Amino acid sequence: MINQTAIVTGSSRGIGREIAIVLLKRGYNVVLCSRTQKEINSTVTEIKQMTNMDTGGKILGARCDVSNCLEVENLIKSTIDKFKSIDILVNNAGIVYVKKLVDTSEDEWDRTISINLKGTFLCTRAALPIMMVNKSGVIVNVSSGAGKTGFPNISAYCASKFGIIALTESLAWEVANYNIRVMAICPGEVDTRMQQDIDEDYYKANKQKMLKPSKVAEKIAEMIFENQYVNGQSVDIG
Ligand SMILES: NC(=O)c1ccc[n+]([C@@H]2O[C@H](COP(=O)([O-])OP(=O)(O)OC[C@H]3O[C@@H](n4cnc5c(N)ncnc54)[C@H](OP(=O)(O)O)[C@@H]3O)[C@@H](O)[C@H]2O)c1
Repeated sequence: MINQTAIVTGSSRGIGREIAIVLLKRGYNVVLCSRTQKEINSTVTEIKQMTNMDTGGKILGARCDVSNCLEVENLIKSTIDKFKSIDILVNNAGIVYVKKLVDTSEDEWDRTISINLKGTFLCTRAALPIMMVNKSGVIVNVSSGAGKTGFPNISAYCASKFGIIALTESLAWEVANYNIRVMAICPGEVDTRMQQDIDEDYYKANKQKMLKPSKVAEKIAEMIFENQYVNGQSVDIG
């Protein structure tokens, strides 16, 4: 039984939840987090039942807003207190506002950048010293197809996701000597609440064609465990 630990942000539902399940099945201790304590609690309970891991003490559910530096530091501290190390960090938490740029408020712009991009920075910065001491670690940043191509009505989202790719490429150079790999994944449309919230009618009509979140999670596991040469790259899926 391995005794390694993964943090997956934004894991109360959608893609993050599936990544957490995949990593648990691989034997990792997994820390799940989101802003909504109730949803995190019910997801943790559900996963424990589903994976039969209720007695192993391998799951920690925590409330954490990744855009808040103090909350991120607390998340890292709770992780170390319980599991002693951080071996994998998946920066998955994200939001989107569907608005033309001209109609986007300053608050909507700030929230998008703060959660999607600054959240990735804050979690990474907090976890890195532990990985650097261990001389080992993997960081996966969830970007998007919209992190490589611009789309109308989601300028702030695209800017944040392009930024994640830049952060990924730059950081990979910085930490390669510590045996830490940093990569990004760029999914197309995935069947989650995010898509549902963007446009209910479009979602209903196209749901069947969308990627399943479990497929994205499998691809991430493949990048982490099988394709160990992947470093600094942004891998498309969908
Ligand atoms: N769905 C797609 O088509 C698609 C495509 C490409 C990339 N992505 C990316 O994939 C990631 C996951 O998206 P999803 O589709 O699974 O969306 P989702 O179903 O809406 O899940 C988003 C998760 O992030 C959490 N979250 C949001 N803001 C947070 C914050 N400030 N701090 C901590 N957790 C936060 C949410 O919980 P709370 O709201 O309770 O905090 C939830 O657990 C996002 O980064 C998204 O941009 C999605």
